[in-house]
Amino acid sequence: AVTRTFSIIKPDATRRNLTGAVTQMLEEAGLRVVASKRIHMSREQAEGFYAVHSERPFFGELVEFMMSEPVVVQVLEGEDAVTRNRDIMGATNPAEAAEGTIRKTHALSIGENTVHGSDSDENAKIEIDFFFDASEIVG
Ligand code: CMP
Repeated sequence: AVTRTFSIIKPDATRRNLTGAVTQMLEEAGLRVVASKRIHMSREQAEGFYAVHSERPFFGELVEFMMSEPVVVQVLEGEDAVTRNRDIMGATNPAEAAEGTIRKTHALSIGENTVHGSDSDENAKIEIDFFFDASEIVG
């Protein structure tokens, strides 16, 4: 089925001017960008978005990184969008990511790993609603 997922192009990518290169890989994987905006996350947004990780040892580092420079938040649409996006992103740790994936090609480390993508349809809806009003999504 055609579904939607949520993506973030992270600060390590915007800093290196890779917004277009990453978006091209998403599009070539069969995903369509139906909403996109460049934002500088507040602490409140970064902590709220990653609240599920608040007890992890890397939480502070993760929040500081996501606030450090602009990001591009996107809604992606396509056939089985969550799985399709996870496949093109590759493993969280770029050292473990498959050849040809976004993280294998561009990520710097497990923290500076270029992209975020929702891990389920349920979380995709929650994450899309966290950053977008329905009126901003144009399918
Ligand atoms: P993301 O998909 O955005 O969701 C949680 C993020 O935590 C994950 O990508 C990683 O970038 C980050 N992360 C996971 N493990 C570590 C770690 N050991 N050190 C720093 N960041 C991490």
